[in-house]
Amino acid sequence: MTDWIAWHRQYDDQDSGLARRLRAVQAEIGAWLDETAPAPVTVVSACAGDGRDLLQVLAERDDSHRVRATLLEYDRRNVERAARSAAAAALGGIEVRCADAGLADSYSGAVPADLVMMCGVFGNVDDDAVRRLVGTLPQLCRPGATVLWTRHRRPPDLTGQVRRWFDGAGFEEVSYVAPADHVYSVGRHRFVGEPQQLTGRARWFEFNR
Ligand SMILES: C[S@@+](CC[C@H](N)C(=O)[O-])C[C@H]1O[C@@H](n2cnc3c(N)ncnc32)[C@H](O)[C@@H]1O
Repeated sequence: MTDWIAWHRQYDDQDSGLARRLRAVQAEIGAWLDETAPAPVTVVSACAGDGRDLLQVLAERDDSHRVRATLLEYDRRNVERAARSAAAAALGGIEVRCADAGLADSYSGAVPADLVMMCGVFGNVDDDAVRRLVGTLPQLCRPGATVLWTRHRRPPDLTGQVRRWFDGAGFEEVSYVAPADHVYSVGRHRFVGEPQQLTGRARWFEFNR
């Protein structure tokens, strides 16, 4: 199985596709924060890793106090790193849960959220799990919430289908970043459908590597 600490080292190379993807994700988080200011907002991040996407953005802003975020991650080493980063940046509203983000129950108390982050998830689960997961996102979203997601475009590229699944699940696309010279993509969708109750005890996905 993948060593997810080693995986994060790819971020050290600023020219890597992963580092570029990170900057694209962070730009979307920043844009979302600007749009929602000055209201208090909540964030949930599934499979958050060391949380650098969200935490680095918050550390640079003077309105981070209005953000309450729950990071779900099951590698304890990444949980500790995320918690340390949040503390170092004096971010008071961050909870890092060592939890299985594939289980509905893990989101209890953290949703519905204003921003739902699914970064580094869709490329690590079976296609059918991506379909199911997109269909369950209304359980995680407040009305008008934003979902930020990533997915590679290696053949067979699933992203066209992913975007159609979002359409069918009550979302409208706000932006989709897919550079010609790399396989990553970053999507941002707004929830315009009917909110749904969180169904306990359901398993939504498991990583396949
Ligand atoms: C591809 S990395 C993405 C990390 C981060 N979201 C990012 O984009 O930088 C996937 C992360 O998900 C974690 N993970 C895998 N399966 C998980 C699960 N079922 N629940 C919670 N975390 C999980 C791994 O430990 C790893 O840190």
